[in-house]
Amino acid sequence: MPDTVMPTGPDRTSKAATAARIYDYYLGGAHNFPADVAAAKQIIALNPATPAIARANRAFLGRAVQFLVDAGVRQFLDIGSGMPTAGNVHQIAQQAAPDSRVVYVDIDPVAVAESLELLEGDPTVTAIQGDARVPGEILGHERVRAMLDFSQPIGLLMCAVLHFIPDDTTARATVSTLAGALAPGSYLVMSHFNMESWDVSPEDEQAGLNVYRQQTATPVGARSAAQVAEFFAGRADIVEPGIVPVPLWRPAEGDPADFTDNPGASAFLGAVGRIHAVRPQPAARV
Ligand SMILES: C[S@@+](CC[C@H](N)C(=O)[O-])C[C@H]1O[C@@H](n2cnc3c(N)ncnc32)[C@H](O)[C@@H]1O
Repeated sequence: MPDTVMPTGPDRTSKAATAARIYDYYLGGAHNFPADVAAAKQIIALNPATPAIARANRAFLGRAVQFLVDAGVRQFLDIGSGMPTAGNVHQIAQQAAPDSRVVYVDIDPVAVAESLELLEGDPTVTAIQGDARVPGEILGHERVRAMLDFSQPIGLLMCAVLHFIPDDTTARATVSTLAGALAPGSYLVMSHFNMESWDVSPEDEQAGLNVYRQQTATPVGARSAAQVAEFFAGRADIVEPGIVPVPLWRPAEGDPADFTDNPGASAFLGAVGRIHAVRPQPAARV
């Protein structure tokens, strides 16, 4: 049974914008309401490349999932999974490995309801409403425990979600708790909004951030490559090619070609790390 009910009638028009549905609009999806469309159009007016940015991020997610399946991972915990759209994690994973199991987690009840509708009758995939800032509740959720075996490797996907947790302390605690629950040999997949190689005026940058701050419940904050690296530090070995603009992460045939000439304009960094066993700290010298 869905956790929530899809709004219909007047509620549809009064619904405030959400990050999940704005992103769905960027990707050309149909799961969005007038407030989402209005917010998305404001962002696209500021940067017409925004839909291409969303596609590049989504393509990274797909390649990373394929990489994990090839590495033998058969379980996935997708935090900030968004609206069901083309190339969902379970579709990519199960095409290569039909025994793959996936839990989708999103703060947006509509995204969760739509996901559950799509997944109805599939015992290998589920979706729950959860807030990444309260990771213990996600880990303790009965459907998460029933679907995933935490003694075996899990692919923890945190794509285009951590920039919706701009507070560094909270974001670090989120990653630490979720990644800390995983067995060695698990993977952390991350993409993150980044402005280091993005040529945008400070005014347009502020205007874009204001759209999310004022029209959604999830304000956005970019992070540097060094800050992204901190999420992996001490818990995961980052695989080649490291922390790079998403189009440069193991590009594959059929990828979108929008940022071939300027990958940094994709405005998202991507990285994949293999979780290692806790390494003993060197003994302090006395
Ligand atoms: C831009 S979408 C990314 C979707 C998908 N992960 C991808 O990369 O294609 C970001 C998603 O994160 C969700 N989100 C934002 N803050 C969240 C939080 N605190 N906990 C869980 N999900 C969150 C939004 O609702 C939205 O669906």
